[in-house]
This record gives sequence, C-alpha cells and structure tokens, in this order.
Amino acid sequence: MTSPDDPPIVLVSNRGPVSFEVDERGELRGRRGAGGLVSGIGPLVAGTATTWIAAAISEGDRAAAATGAVVDHEGFRVRLLALDPETYRLAYDVVCNESLWFAHHGLWDRAHEPVFDRAWHEAWNAYREVNAAFADAVAEVAPTGAVVLVQDYHLCLVALRLADTRPDLRCVHFSHTPFAPPAWLAALPAVAVQELLRGLAAHVACGFHTHRWAEDFAASARDLAGLSPTTFVSPLASDPADIRGVASSPECLAALAALEQRVGDLQVIGRVDRVELSKNLIRGFLAFDDLLDHHPEHRGRVVFVAGAYASRSGVAAYATYRDEIHRTVDEVNARWGTEAWTPIHLDVDDDHPRSVALLRRADVLLVNPIRDGLNLVASEGALVNERAAVLALSPEAGAWERLHQAALEVPPFDIWGTAEVLHQALTMPADERRDRADRLRRLAEARTPADWLAEQLAAAR
Ligand code: G6P
Repeated sequence: MTSPDDPPIVLVSNRGPVSFEVDERGELRGRRGAGGLVSGIGPLVAGTATTWIAAAISEGDRAAAATGAVVDHEGFRVRLLALDPETYRLAYDVVCNESLWFAHHGLWDRAHEPVFDRAWHEAWNAYREVNAAFADAVAEVAPTGAVVLVQDYHLCLVALRLADTRPDLRCVHFSHTPFAPPAWLAALPAVAVQELLRGLAAHVACGFHTHRWAEDFAASARDLAGLSPTTFVSPLASDPADIRGVASSPECLAALAALEQRVGDLQVIGRVDRVELSKNLIRGFLAFDDLLDHHPEHRGRVVFVAGAYASRSGVAAYATYRDEIHRTVDEVNARWGTEAWTPIHLDVDDDHPRSVALLRRADVLLVNPIRDGLNLVASEGALVNERAAVLALSPEAGAWERLHQAALEVPPFDIWGTAEVLHQALTMPADERRDRADRLRRLAEARTPADWLAEQLAAAR
C-alpha cells in the first residue's frame, strides 16, 4: 500500500514474513511468519516491490535460502540469509536474547547477572558477523536511493557498514522494544555499548513506539557516547480490518464456541502473551490469588483464561520462567479450585484465532508487563471485544501512551494493587464500562499500520 511516489523500500528484520518447512514429500512449504511485525507491517508491503531481508531460522528457511534468490511468497519478496548456525545462535541467543533484551527491559538480577566472559565476547563477534551479512545482502539487492527500514535490536550495526559500501541508501532504524537508559546499557562491555550506539546513530533517524523509549535512547547516546542521533516517535498500531477479519473467521467462531462452553456465564479475566520475563505473568496469577483470598465473592464466579505461548526456547531463563508459571497456576488452582470450577485456564499452544476469541469474550483484559515496547494485544482487545471489557494496563507498556485515558492503571510490581484493580474492573458499573470501552475502541481505531509506514518514510527524508 505504498504510493508510486515513494522511494523503493528494503525492509530488514531478523524474523521474516514467511517461514518455510520441508514437507513429507521433501518440498518446501511456506507459511506466514509469527509475530507482531508481520501482522502489523506485512499487509502494507505484501504485493509491493519491497524486498524483505531476514535470517533463515528453520531448516526449511535454510533450504529456501540456499537458492540465494529472492523468493516470492504470499505477495512477499523475501531474501533469506543462511548464516552459519553457530554464529547465528551466538548472535541471536547470547547477544540479542540474553543480553540486549535483558538490558532494554531491565531484567537482570544484578547480584548475579550479567556476567560477560570471554565466550560472551566471542558471541559479540558473532553479532558483528550477522550484522555484516545483513548489510552485505542489503547492499546487493537495494535499488539506488532506496530507503532501508531496519527493525530492532538484532540489527544495530547494519547502517554503519552500509555508510561505507552504499552511501546512496537512506537507513532508518526502528526499535520495537524499549531502550535501556544509561545505567542499564552501561552494564554491557564498553566495546558493545560504543558499537551499538555508533551503529544506531549511523541511521538518518531512530524510531520508537513512545517518547519514553526515545528519551532513554537519547540519554544513553549522549551520556555514554557523546552522540545526539535524530529520533522520532511512531507507535505501530493494530490493523482494525485485519484483526476484525480474524475475529469473524470460522476458526475464531469455533474457538469462541469452545470457550463459551468452558466458561459459561462466568466473568472472564483474559490475557494473551508470549512467555517472556518482561510480560509479568506470575505476578498476574498471584494477584488473582490475592483477589480470591480477599474478595471471596469472586470465588466460583470468575475465571482467568491465559494464553501463554512458548518463546525463545534457546534461553535457559525462559524455560525456568515457563516452569514457574505452571507451578504458580497449579498452586492457585489447588488452593481455590472446586469440582465445578477451575480458577485459571492456561492455554499454551499458540493459536491466533483462539487468542482473538478470548479477546472477544473477556470482561477484563490484563496487560501488566514490567516493561514492554508497545503491546498490540491491548489495542487488539479494544478492536474486537464485545463485552465492554475493561483494560487493566501497566504504565510500563508502550501502549500506555495512547490508551491510558480509557484504561485502568495496573501497578506491575504491586500484587495487592493489581488485585484491587482487577476487583474494580470486575465490579465496574455497566455505563462506566461502556464509556471506557467506547473510548478505547476509538483510540485504537485512530491509527493504522499505514500511519507507521508513512512516518518511517518521512523520517528517511
Ligand atoms: C517481540 C518484540 C520485538 C522482537 C520480537 C522478537 O515481539 O516486541 O521487538 O523483534 O519479540 O521475537 P523473536 O521470537 O523473533 O525472538
């Protein structure tokens, strides 16, 4: 949906819009990739001349990448990069997921972490190599004068190399995560801090979902590297047509019927997250436990349905966190459950239509991250919900900046406070619920992914 006057675009992200698998007959089968980036930006670039460069992650991706060609699939022109698997693992797991993600989300338990040993510095080398490979692929395919839209913390060094090899290109970086303030970023080895900040500053501009993350980045660049890169703020938005299309699909209707059977006429607290430490799932369940303890009128009358989908299995801390989630849910269910009523229903298989069915049916939507770049679930809920659901939203979610006027503020670290917000949401008078839900829907409808793309292109000028 780009206009003919726009310059050619090259999109660059670690995870691509299509992922391939080799089927039983040994043939390559592609399907739409997972993740917010694809659902947000995908429809805008599908069917256009935009080339999307991404890492080959699965075995099928590697087979597709082996041809070296740009693959056309579902309207996407994708160039997949087959990187050495160990180099990729070090860059993706050790640097991106265990280090940069933790720095940007403030997840370290600083008495024990982080620890940067020699092996880490080898992983940093791998991060450089992966970024160089991406930069070289861009240099190879980008038309003269193209705008290169580089996505996220996996690819901070791409523009620096392109400044030498392809000075005609205009690179814009966009972070879908928060950015570490100086005190957090400074925990990384100095060489990495300097390269990351110089790498980001090599873009025409660096974009963020909220003013807070842009300010944290500007402070880090200034205090740690004496740099003043250009920044802009451009929240991505859910596509109302796309999410409502899913909401009315036969798959979603079937999932909704199954959910109705499960929950009957009980009130539903819903949440949908990847199992990530920043999402704060456990405190959410502990708050529900506290609610049942101190507001006994909700016992047997409310169920908490949580979609909690596997993520980043290569990172040990995630596996531990997943186990803690299961333990916590089992404990709460053992404490309060009866023959007829299971307080928490945990759905662990990622099933998009079923998640959307939950967003349709929920009476309260809990989004309580300890820090989150944006969180599209908050606005998706607003767009498809039919029961005037109350959004209980953490101010640490990027979505807060746009949606807070219509949400209830949930304090992410305060279990008692969260329980009281859940109680307030469950007992809110109908007219106030309706009023808030209407305002929420209007706020969510006020922006589309097309605005986001137009703002990236404007930033490149
Ligand atoms: C979340 C973040 C994105 C990030 C993505 C990577 O969705 O919001 O900023 O790019 O995770 O996830 P992955 O599964 O590819 O590691």
